[in-house]
Amino acid sequence: MTKAFEAKIIGTGAYLPKKVLSNADLEKMVDTSDEWIVTRTGMKERRIAAEGECTSDMCYFACVDALKNADVSANDIDLILVATITPDYVFPSTSCLLQERLGATQAAALDVQAACSGYIYGLSIAKAFIESGTYRNILLVAGEKLSSITDYEDRNTCILFGDGAGACVVSVEGKGLVIRGCNLGADGAQADLLKMPGGGCRHPPTHQTVDQKLHYIHMAGKEVFKHAVRRMEFATKKCLEASGVKEEEISWLIPHQANNRIIDALAKRFSVPQDRVYLTIQKYGNTSASSVGIALHELLTEKKLEKGEHVVLAAFGGGFTWGAAVLENE
Ligand code: ACO
Repeated sequence: MTKAFEAKIIGTGAYLPKKVLSNADLEKMVDTSDEWIVTRTGMKERRIAAEGECTSDMCYFACVDALKNADVSANDIDLILVATITPDYVFPSTSCLLQERLGATQAAALDVQAACSGYIYGLSIAKAFIESGTYRNILLVAGEKLSSITDYEDRNTCILFGDGAGACVVSVEGKGLVIRGCNLGADGAQADLLKMPGGGCRHPPTHQTVDQKLHYIHMAGKEVFKHAVRRMEFATKKCLEASGVKEEEISWLIPHQANNRIIDALAKRFSVPQDRVYLTIQKYGNTSASSVGIALHELLTEKKLEKGEHVVLAAFGGGFTWGAAVLENE
């Protein structure tokens, strides 16, 4: 069935802070080694925001880049969606801060909290608003300052995370990547396996919550690992089916950049060759919601996609949440 309105990504952008935290740097901070980190995760370095540089700042620069590449003015944006688990404040939302800074005076503003799946959740929301005819131009940005909630004394987590932002303009007009389908899922029964326990109303900040390190990411890595592959495989399969796209038609796979072993396992399940899996994990680590957004921007900057090529995004994160999206180049 032909849709009256089709949602497409007509421009992307990204921002990475300048400071590099290498495996050699981490060797000086905790009991770890470059060899362990590279073989167990695929990470070599990650970027860390400057002191005072917040999620909204990184999002702002990624948005300016995406608006320029889409040739859309901030004034023409109807909705700003920000995916993050590290907002500047509990409230007001980071999207409201961005609305003001971008001068997007006509835009509504909404934050999406779906951890590492946030970019794909955001794409799905943008697609629904465009296809319903509600909005014409939506600015989606995923930004994270994970360094602000990472315990640099915990070797189980501190080697994994980095900061950065990835953005895109989703529109009804213009040329780009048509969002053929999205599939989303969640399992709140597993919430305890990956969370930041403090800071909300269950454990408001006190001296005690700080002493107990409740304001940092707590993760049962091995358990999370098992779910990640299974859930991303499920979402990708469902999304391909609903989009009418076959496995062998995947030109590029962009999985959430959490661990090379998870990425390899997912790619194998869809017979995607290694040189068709787009990676940024070696240089940026796990940037949570931002990771697929940054990788999509870098893929489009680096490679010229042919008409009809498909890009598949897949993500998994705290909640648990997961999702996949199938994009087709026009
Ligand atoms: N350096 C050296 N040794 C380490 C390190 C380190 N940095 N970290 C852990 N180890 C040790 C452990 O202490 C353990 O030692 P022990 O056997 O003596 O107890 C051993 O290495 C193995 O630890 P595991 O946790 O079993 O290591 P694993 O191979 O599972 O790798 C990792 C850990 C990288 C965290 C992996 O489990 C993983 O990637 N999990 C999934 C992460 C993910 O996908 N997260 C989702 C998104 S994140 C978000 O939503 C914010």
